[in-house]
Amino acid sequence: MITKQKGMVDVYGDYSKKWMYIEDAIRSVFEHYNYNYIRTPILEASELFHRSVGDSSDIVTKETYDFIDRGDREVTLRPEGTAGVVRSYIENKMYGDAIQPIKLYYSGTMYRYERPQSGRLREFSQYGCEVLGTNDPAMDAEIISIPVNLYKLLGLKNVKVKINSLGDEETRKKYHDALKKYFKDSIDTLCDDCKERYNKNPLRILDCKVDGDKEIIKNAPKILDYLSDDAKNRFEMVQKYLDLMQIEYIIDENIVRGLDYYNHSVFEVVADVKDLGPGSVLCGGGRYNKLVSELDGPETSAMGFAGGLDRLLLVLEHEDIKLNIKNEIDAFIMYVNDLEKEYAISLNQALRMNGFTTDTEYNGRNLKGQFKQADRLHARYLIILNSDDIKNGNVKIKDNLTKEEQIIAEADLVDYLDMNS
Ligand code: HAM
Repeated sequence: MITKQKGMVDVYGDYSKKWMYIEDAIRSVFEHYNYNYIRTPILEASELFHRSVGDSSDIVTKETYDFIDRGDREVTLRPEGTAGVVRSYIENKMYGDAIQPIKLYYSGTMYRYERPQSGRLREFSQYGCEVLGTNDPAMDAEIISIPVNLYKLLGLKNVKVKINSLGDEETRKKYHDALKKYFKDSIDTLCDDCKERYNKNPLRILDCKVDGDKEIIKNAPKILDYLSDDAKNRFEMVQKYLDLMQIEYIIDENIVRGLDYYNHSVFEVVADVKDLGPGSVLCGGGRYNKLVSELDGPETSAMGFAGGLDRLLLVLEHEDIKLNIKNEIDAFIMYVNDLEKEYAISLNQALRMNGFTTDTEYNGRNLKGQFKQADRLHARYLIILNSDDIKNGNVKIKDNLTKEEQIIAEADLVDYLDMNS
């Protein structure tokens, strides 16, 4: 038997119903915020991720699915959505569009060659958004509010919004120097990756999955003490707008994010659920004002976030939240002989064309078996065909809730179902 790849899931059955429900909720929230849907390829040039997510991030150094394609091109299955959206923004010259800022949302499959565990997969689905063309701190607050609203809508209660600022270039430079000085004498006590990070990007040490809990890392200098005046003012404005939107948050200086492109606001929304480990981070994002120009586009301020769909479902399950999923069909059409079957097939088609969810018998069950099947499908109505009724232009319909039966003209069936379902 051929089995699925490690760290990948099949979405089917009740799980797929929940999945579709969540995707609908996500779409609806983004549409309310006036974002447009964007769909970019899953496969991109490897260089895109090296130059955006960054050569000092774990994602690029250890986790990408890289291939040489049949045309000898280096390609990568996208590990996240931002890089592809920014590439598309530049390639399609969206910076020239009349309506600015450009507000885009997406939902799709991402690939990271990580060690699979609860809430951490190798193939996972991310929903997210990117806003390109504004540096207004009010937009930072808008973006942070999106997942907060989504989780509220879905009924999640124990979520925490953690925000931080990584400041501007001046801040980053001062902070990098401070970290280098701080870790100079102790770098040998940290893992090999951290030694490399020390040279490439010391900020990454704070995000280390191996040493992250060590006192030495916990006691490292904090970035907020190094914010330039501009960066500090900006961070305060973001907080003011969040207050105005009545979004509760905590400032957490340990949020540095695992991707290299961030500056200024960064944030994560975390579910307060025990034993979920990394699975409890529902989403994360931040501002990346340099990325568009680093990828050869014009200077463009931008910010976005992304969340894991698989994780969201996991947390909903842990919090025992029942989603309002439609789990019934409008009608099940039952028949016994061939003539009735022909009638069933055309009636089924007609009802579906009128917008009803209907089904009929395809396994040759007798009438008793069909009643059972209708119950399994949670059919609201049973349409029980009979040759005499058909000849007279009638059908028998049974309300599966009240168990009431009546004969009605076939011509009145659509109106009847419309009024009653
Ligand atoms: P990220 O923090 O790497 O950010 O991922 C965002 C979210 O994707 C995580 O919070 C988590 O919910 C989910 N996620 C990440 N890795 C996995 C995995 N292996 N299995 C399941 N879920 C996972 C980004 O990807 C940035 N592009 C976010 C962003 C958008 N920043 C600005 N714009």
